[in-house]
Amino acid sequence: MKSRNFDVVVLGAGAAGLFCAAEAGRRGRRVLVVDHARAPGEKIRISGGGRCNFTNIHASPGNFLSANPHFCISALKRFTAADFVARVDARGIAWHEKKLGQLFCDGPATQIVAMLTDDLAGTGGTLELATSVEDVARRPDGFDIRLSSGPVACSSLVIATGGKSIPRMGATGFAYRVAEQFGLAVTETRPGLVPLTFEPNLRERIAPLAGVSADARVSGGDTAFDEALLFTHRGLSGPAILQVSSYWREGDAIAVDLAPGIDIFAELRAARRSSGRQEAQTVLSRYLPRALAQFVVAEAGMAGPVAERNDAALRRLAELVHDWQVKPAGSEGYRTAEVTLGGVDTAGLDQKTMEAKSVPGLHFIGEAVDVTGWLGGYNFQWAWSSGWAAGQAV
Ligand code: FDA
Repeated sequence: MKSRNFDVVVLGAGAAGLFCAAEAGRRGRRVLVVDHARAPGEKIRISGGGRCNFTNIHASPGNFLSANPHFCISALKRFTAADFVARVDARGIAWHEKKLGQLFCDGPATQIVAMLTDDLAGTGGTLELATSVEDVARRPDGFDIRLSSGPVACSSLVIATGGKSIPRMGATGFAYRVAEQFGLAVTETRPGLVPLTFEPNLRERIAPLAGVSADARVSGGDTAFDEALLFTHRGLSGPAILQVSSYWREGDAIAVDLAPGIDIFAELRAARRSSGRQEAQTVLSRYLPRALAQFVVAEAGMAGPVAERNDAALRRLAELVHDWQVKPAGSEGYRTAEVTLGGVDTAGLDQKTMEAKSVPGLHFIGEAVDVTGWLGGYNFQWAWSSGWAAGQAV
């Protein structure tokens, strides 16, 4: 079968691939985007509870994890959150800030997918869905790609196939295999923004708390997040836990402050003075959900009136509220992880163009690269910024 020729072939019709392809198309490049899924931008569609948290107005390099924290600076500076908001505004998509700079569509997330696919179509680009990639090979002035629909050739090849999270939505380790095929390093990959699980004994003790949430400060190493925490049947979830999960390593403990900003020791002492016959859990339940107050008191072994407790005991109880050290047994893994940490090693890529330094014409963008954002719109911003950067160069 005769090979079809394109200037640019983008593998992966997710956020990064679609955005990059339209940028390249705007520059007059003939572009083909290929995806094995039946629909483009599936993760965009389900993101942000169906409303797509499409960026974060505070996005800066400090919100990203990477073996090289400087790598993302150039792309994030050249295509900013404000630049993407301008695109959304130009399209007439209504949005709102939910909290902490997180921007969501007012209506369905599919509006963002439609914007990206319309932009691509407007530049004359081709989108080929339900098409698998059988082989990628290099030739002197570009690449030959064997697709299930036949062979194609191109001078620039962009790998935008994402990471390993949510395999049932079409996630594969394809980008890492291509990187390795071309001699590029891949840093260790692991699930990020993922609920954490407990060992059976602790799981049993927290069972009555399933569904209970609280505003907390959760720390992993030097990084702390002030957001909601949610008890599940298996462990902990909620934004604070998802955030810290990206910093957590097996065997580490996380520190949970269940009443940030409140001096629980002072409150317990004051309660002992004013009405010492109160139960400790009654005092704590002014600041914590009742079931959680009950759990903390049981863990500390301090049921009974506060009047029976000396300062040292009250301090121990307060410490459990402010510095609950808990060692997760694991995470829920790629099945539910919102992102994949690690990926194509940035040491092998040009930060301005996302091009492999040793393989001219080969670019990696989006989640496939070892750049992972916090929860809150940062990962899409990386998809747009890295996609834009490659789109100017291919
Ligand atoms: P993405 O995964 O979007 O796209 C990759 C594409 O490649 C897919 O279409 C896939 O089918 C295709 N593909 C994979 N392997 C292939 C192969 N072998 N051959 C052909 N095609 C292949 N982020 C954020 O900023 N705000 C948010 O609100 C959310 N919400 C959210 C919710 C949920 C449930 C998840 C799982 C994730 C989020 N995220 C998020 C994260 C965000 O979705 C993610 O970071 C981006 O989609 C990454 O964009 P990419 O284009 O790099 O990969």
